[in-house]
Amino acid sequence: MRIDIATLFPGMFAEVLDQSILGRARRAGVLDVGLFDIRDFTSDRHRSADDRPYGGGPGMLLRPEPVVLCVERILAERGVSGRRSRVVLLTPAGRAFGQAEAREFAAEIHIVLVCGRYEGFDQRVIDALRPDLLSVGPYVLSGGEIAAMAVTDAVARLLPGALGDAESASVETHAEPGVVEAPQYTRPPEWRGLRVPEELLSGDHARIARWRAEESRKRSLRTQDGRRP
Ligand code: ADE
Repeated sequence: MRIDIATLFPGMFAEVLDQSILGRARRAGVLDVGLFDIRDFTSDRHRSADDRPYGGGPGMLLRPEPVVLCVERILAERGVSGRRSRVVLLTPAGRAFGQAEAREFAAEIHIVLVCGRYEGFDQRVIDALRPDLLSVGPYVLSGGEIAAMAVTDAVARLLPGALGDAESASVETHAEPGVVEAPQYTRPPEWRGLRVPEELLSGDHARIARWRAEESRKRSLRTQDGRRP
């Protein structure tokens, strides 16, 4: 699949896209990520992408022209003919991005993520592009870049072939809504007086499965209460 990112800060992405699962998915050809600098679509001497809001108020807004030109170029150059691209604006005012949305996006062929900065976008960006508005959480980031990284990562690891044999996207936290995994342990069996639960050392697969199901149930309830898992 293709994910294209429109941003004022393309330099923020290099390490995140090159390392670990994202890096491997890209090298394997499972994921093709493009970075587009919104500033390349400005036409004034100062390459300004923002301006003051009409009616007053704090901060600056992203101007409609460079953002929309940038997305139009992405759609023209990288869209897949006959298939609709999904355009997503990252904003704290958007719909919450969860594992269900990650799954939904992983089934797309082309996604365009548009990163906001400053106080947000001129409304005409939204009117012209009719994008999905998406938030990665109920807090305000300095811009949409870190949100775009989170979305790209969560989607990429669901693509067939992105994870290695030792990794799995099916038996993990949030694979089902509200479900948190049982605690996990590796060697040694005792460390600083803390012992691995006997069930996990028993070699009895049915007993291990029962223990995991019960611990997962308890943790999920506790997490829903907002308590520490
Ligand atoms: N931009 C700033 N804060 C954001 C958030 N929480 N989600 C998505 N984009 C954002």
